[in-house]
Amino acid sequence: MTTDTFATPRWRDGLEDEYAVLRQTLDQLIPCLEVPLHLPWIDAINALKKRRGAVIMAHSYQSPEIFHGVADITGDSLALAQAAADCDSDLIVLCGVHFMAESAKILAPEKTVLIPDLEAGCSLASSINAADVRALRRRHPGVPVVSYANTSAEVKAESDACCTSANAVQVVEAIAAESGAGKVIFLPDRYLGSWVAQQTDVELVLWNGTCEVHETFTAQQVRHTREQFDARVVAHPECSPEVLAEADFVGSTSAMGRWLAKEKPARVAMITECSMADNLRNQFPDVQFIKPCNLCPHMKRITLPNIHACLRDLRHEVLVAPEVRVRARAALDRMLAIGRRERV
Ligand code: 13P
Ligand code: SF4
Repeated sequence: MTTDTFATPRWRDGLEDEYAVLRQTLDQLIPCLEVPLHLPWIDAINALKKRRGAVIMAHSYQSPEIFHGVADITGDSLALAQAAADCDSDLIVLCGVHFMAESAKILAPEKTVLIPDLEAGCSLASSINAADVRALRRRHPGVPVVSYANTSAEVKAESDACCTSANAVQVVEAIAAESGAGKVIFLPDRYLGSWVAQQTDVELVLWNGTCEVHETFTAQQVRHTREQFDARVVAHPECSPEVLAEADFVGSTSAMGRWLAKEKPARVAMITECSMADNLRNQFPDVQFIKPCNLCPHMKRITLPNIHACLRDLRHEVLVAPEVRVRARAALDRMLAIGRRERV
């Protein structure tokens, strides 16, 4: 028997009334039979969180019971890393994948950052390591490196700047202009890279990484969804160029939400991770969400029981070696400075 089994929280009187609003929200997003199973965990996590003075951050790809039930701060990977640096608490539980927790630690080194499952990885982050980046630099001398946030701290440390899908074009153009090279090594996502390349004159050297979730969508599937449901189509730039060519809008996690608010489509198909649509659904009650979506197996390693164990046992701490952290921080800071400059 595991410690988690001993700690299984039980149903108690009053739970249903205390969480009436949450229950209403979750009933619309997940099978209603599941909600009573989640509530004791949510209640126990919220009590532990208070006792520990912790803050729980959840990425938009987290399941609704986590996103709505226990998270204090939600958003895309960039928003979470920035919130980690800005929040008052010294203890952060990052409900997302490992590179996101590392970014939080890099930007908030004095805080304790925990992740409920250390194995929550990412196919993009594991497609490249620091030695690969050094080899790319040897092959393309003088060409600066821009790395997607979906990389390890060691890869960030070898890079001139980081980017997210929300600011990749801006960062590539700024780094190319600063270096005068007219060329940038862009890694590791070849699909995001080719989408960026369509929007800039900067020549990009790409790496062969892909997101195992977004690469499985097909153009035929998107066409079928559009025709069958008369839906508008929004796709994440980690999808293949053929899929992106079928979309009405291509954008990052945060840009998709802004597009929905502006366009207010009657029906939309979100070509991305499944929970993204679930978590947006209650913000847009008049929009009908069609779900040709895929689950990210890494994001789904985070569960209410392992968040509870994480807070109970203060495990698993995410650490970044100081010499790596300082260089990775410089690449993240460069991205943040470019973002600020563009907004002025
Ligand atoms: P964001 O940077 O938009 O949060 O996306 C991260 C991710 O893993 C997308 O698949
Ligand atoms: Fe990585 Fe893709 Fe999962 Fe995002 S959805 S964390 S890119 S594997």
